[in-house]
Amino acid sequence: MSHVKFYSGEKVPLEMHKVRIVQKLNIIPIEERLEALKEAGYNTFLLRNRDVFMDMLTDSGVNAMSDKQLAAMMEADDSYAGSETYVKLEEKVQEIFGTEFFLPAHQGRACENIISKTFVKPGSIAVMNYHFTTTRSHIVINGGIVEEYLCEEGYEINSDHPFKGNLDIEKLKALIAEKGAENIAFVRYEAGTNLIGGQPFSLANLQEARKVCDEHGIILVLDASLLADNLYFMKIREEQCKDMSIREITRAMADLSDIIYFSARKLGCARGGGICTNNKEYYIKMRELVPLYEGFLTYGGMSVREMEALTVGLEETMDMNMINQGPLFIEYMTEELFSKGIPVVTPAGGLGCHLNAKEFVKHIPQHEYPAAALAAALFLVSGVRGMERGTMSEDRDENGAEKLADMELVRLALPRRVFTLSQVKYAVDRIVWLYENRDLIGGMKFVEEPKILRFFLGKLDTATDWPQDLLKKFREDFGDSL
Ligand code: F0G
Repeated sequence: MSHVKFYSGEKVPLEMHKVRIVQKLNIIPIEERLEALKEAGYNTFLLRNRDVFMDMLTDSGVNAMSDKQLAAMMEADDSYAGSETYVKLEEKVQEIFGTEFFLPAHQGRACENIISKTFVKPGSIAVMNYHFTTTRSHIVINGGIVEEYLCEEGYEINSDHPFKGNLDIEKLKALIAEKGAENIAFVRYEAGTNLIGGQPFSLANLQEARKVCDEHGIILVLDASLLADNLYFMKIREEQCKDMSIREITRAMADLSDIIYFSARKLGCARGGGICTNNKEYYIKMRELVPLYEGFLTYGGMSVREMEALTVGLEETMDMNMINQGPLFIEYMTEELFSKGIPVVTPAGGLGCHLNAKEFVKHIPQHEYPAAALAAALFLVSGVRGMERGTMSEDRDENGAEKLADMELVRLALPRRVFTLSQVKYAVDRIVWLYENRDLIGGMKFVEEPKILRFFLGKLDTATDWPQDLLKKFREDFGDSL
């Protein structure tokens, strides 16, 4: 199912698809990459894609689509209200999640806006296994407080815990006892915790949380953006899921949740999002905001073509041979790096391979943004664009003090079905070289620092001219190679 055995004994992820449309890639010389980096303020978000070789920034909106998705896009029924395309999507969501009500939105954070505006009141607490950047911003902007009760193992870079995304249920109970259930806006489970290595939670953990929420009348929200990866891990790592189909596990998760929302830029390999629930009262409360912020109730900001692609993409997510592709490639990359002594988050999770910058460049203090420095250095020496997931991804507190992140990671996302094994090997090779030359990498400082979500648009400069030293060493070792 997940692995075909190789006679050689080597463990290789096998593509369960063939490539039928390709997009040309370029590798520009390292000198030009340095220029591009400088122009981007050393922020990989601000690079132009034409200068990038492997775009591992994110898996959001850049997953490969299937022939069936593309074909469906041609059938889209375009109308402002009541399009057949929307009805198909609504029915697919109802079938997969078993929820009666669906609200479309233009992407995941739009769902977060609607949910936060509806359920978060000033001073109320949103408990979660871990925050995502946009999630926290929406909760905080509405006056809410975010409490993260990730299990202890989740904070360990290397662990053999199969479900590092689990919520600490005892902490949840203690909070309820201390603050009262009426002050808790909701408990939010993030499938495949984005910011700390794409780590899954177990079905058993969600079941326990459900019990607590039932006892106290607390709403349980599931962020299903990275559901596909979480489903895969439940299926292969959790005893009670071994004999369940992916569809059954999905239903089990949905049945435990009061509200499910997702970014369709991840789930369903399209672009868009949506909120599902069986609770009519919640639905009606949230529904008011959709025409205001998103669009009419039969598109919510999504194009009809994307809705067609999403309908097919959701169905395809119920196939183990589809959802295993991300995690298997991530596992391959992570294990290759780990076996070569490179600090990475283990066990391999979903979304991407995560370099541990705290260890990789341990000479760079957190307030000089080690993960941002490593992301810039990696782009310089390889054309591989990753994403900083550390202190730069946090915003300063109300007094202007840095909030040092729990982890300093460089996320190398593996958009589903996009990269080939030789490209992954190239990335591994360059990372190994960079690790051997890590002492050359130096710190960063902000030159332009936005107040909210500063990692998106902020510009940095290097503390010293270390990129030039790295470039020089690259030329010594690689000659005129790209
Ligand atoms: N929730 C999770 C777990 C996410 O990973 C994301 C997006 C969102 C919500 C917001 O969805 O982008 O459609 O508005 N993550 C992207 C990423 C941006 O690169 O990891 P969105």
